Amino acid sequence: MENRYMRADLVAEKIAAGKHREFIGGMWEALGDLQFAYMKSVGLLAHHKLLDVGCGSLRGGVHFIPYLEPKHYFGFDINQSLMEAGLTNELSDELRQSHIRAENFSSSDDFTYPAQWQALDFAIGLSLFTHLSLNTIKLCLWQTRKVLKTGGKFHATIFLVEKKNMFVAHQQSAEVLSHPTKDPFHYTHEDMEYLAAATGFSLCSIDDFEHPRNQKMAVFQKI
Ligand SMILES: C[S@@+](CC[C@H](N)C(=O)[O-])C[C@H]1O[C@@H](n2cnc3c(N)ncnc32)[C@H](O)[C@@H]1O
Repeated sequence: MENRYMRADLVAEKIAAGKHREFIGGMWEALGDLQFAYMKSVGLLAHHKLLDVGCGSLRGGVHFIPYLEPKHYFGFDINQSLMEAGLTNELSDELRQSHIRAENFSSSDDFTYPAQWQALDFAIGLSLFTHLSLNTIKLCLWQTRKVLKTGGKFHATIFLVEKKNMFVAHQQSAEVLSHPTKDPFHYTHEDMEYLAAATGFSLCSIDDFEHPRNQKMAVFQKI
């Protein structure tokens, strides 16, 4: 199994224990604020449509949903239950009624999105690719490209290593050791170039992101 989020028993156990925040990585406020500030800094405006790939329990969504126009936030995750924990516990009744609709939340294990999701402006994947193998990232990019408008951007965080370190474990921060073949995965700049070229994106940049665990932000643009 590629990552712990694919273990239905563990996901159910964490949700039942009320631990959805910790399970999706903790640092609820800090990483919620960070992704929201980052997306605004790269041009996210209220009228845009945003897809949050691997949105989990809405650590970012609680910021994006009230900022965007009603129903302009689209949440996707392999675990419907994690999204439901977020929708139920992290949003006010008022916000739920005014800003979201069930059709904007979807789950699958192969990044199949609902047919109605089309011409979205931006996608974000915060701490998603760090848990995925190269081929799963390739599938994610391929599928996500279909729902973005031409020129739309997909901002996804990764653990980055230099080519000389690609096949050894790498200390990213005090608490994270990244790996070439297991979660948390690391990748090289060349890997991202390859993935973009293979899936119809151009790789715009890999940016510093002031992430506390040293994730970097890879920016893909749909050609
Ligand atoms: C570390 S959490 C981050 C959640 C969210 N982006 C945030 O910032 O809080 C990773 C999320 O990716 C989801 N995930 C893992 N593998 C996935 C896959 N193959 N397809 C879709 N979602 C996946 C997990 O269920 C989890 O919600």
